[in-house]
Order: sequence, then C-alpha cells, then structure tokens
Amino acid sequence: MKTLIVYHSRTGITKKVAETIASLIKADIEEIHSKTNYKGPLGYLKAGKESSMKKLPKIEEVKKDPSDYDLVVIGTPIWAWTMASPIRSYLSKFSGHFQNVAFFCTMGGNGDDKAFLHMAEISGKEPKATLTFKTKEVAKDFDEHMQRVKDFVQKIK
Ligand SMILES: Cc1cc2nc3c(=O)[nH]c(=O)nc-3n(C[C@H](O)[C@H](O)[C@H](O)COP(=O)(O)O)c2cc1C
Repeated sequence: MKTLIVYHSRTGITKKVAETIASLIKADIEEIHSKTNYKGPLGYLKAGKESSMKKLPKIEEVKKDPSDYDLVVIGTPIWAWTMASPIRSYLSKFSGHFQNVAFFCTMGGNGDDKAFLHMAEISGKEPKATLTFKTKEVAKDFDEHMQRVKDFVQKIK
C-alpha cells in the first residue's frame, strides 16, 4: 500500500510523531509549510487567530500529489481546539482527492475530538484510525509510548 504522511509542526512535537510513524512503515513524508510566520509570541497569536477564525493561510506548493497514494496519514498540532490552520488549507485544497485517510495530533490538553471531526468533514473521508499524544508525552520519554504508535500503524496497514 502506497502511504504518504503529511504534517505541520510549529515546534517539532508533531514532526517527531510523524517521523516515528514513518520509521515503522514504508511511507513518503511531506511537511506543510505556511506562508504565515508563526515564530515567537506574535506568531503564536497569528496561529491562534487563524485557527479559531477557520482561516486558510497560503501554504507552500506540495511536492507529493495525495491522490497518488492509497492512504494519506495527516498530522497536526491542536490550535484553538481544532487543527492547525495550514492543515485546514491542505485538506481544503485536496478535499475529495484522498483515497483513505488516518489522522494524528499532538496537544497540550484537549481539542483532538473536535479537530478529527473537522478534518473528516473537510477531507471528505472518515479516518481509518486516529492517534493523539499530549505534548509532554512526546517531549519526554516518548519511547514509553511506542506501543500506541505501533497499534496505530497496525490499524492503518
Ligand atoms: C496557537 C496555539 C493554540 C493552541 N491551542 C491548543 C488547544 O486548544 N488545546 C491544546 O491542547 N493545545 C493547544 N496548543 C498546544 C499545541 O497543540 C501543542 O503544544 C502541540 O504539541 C505543538 O505541536 P508542534 O510542536 O508540532 O507545533 C496550542 C498551541 C498553539 C501554538
């Protein structure tokens, strides 16, 4: 099965989960870059505003066409109780072009359920599986949580 892992990550936590999934399955990987700069305190505010207002920031051109893949695994940090705005842009751009999807997210505390619902709505597909990590679980002793990543990979294989 041809698999693509797509993610956005502002501070590297979601990236770490994406790369861990990629190390367990044969998959291409694509990071989504926004044209909005989210660095620093001002960037944090911009990120929160874009997400809560459901804005679609411009994103850099992607290298992989998701319709070429049997499965696209999409990862996002939670921003303002939903997906990060660059992932909203990505899903909107390719809505209806996904064959199968699975979702994962990282978050400080909550918002994953709502994010996954919104991601299913926008992508036009129900996920084959979902996976949530809290930021602190990834930042510290992530190896202890590897079984959850393996279970997720089993479900999407
Ligand atoms: C603008 C903004 C809004 C956020 N809102 C939430 C939230 O609603 N719920 C939550 O649990 N975490 C929230 N967070 C925390 C991030 O989801 C969390 O730190 C995540 O692991 C960061 O992933 P990253 O390093 O891949 O960017 C927010 C972070 C940012 C930057």
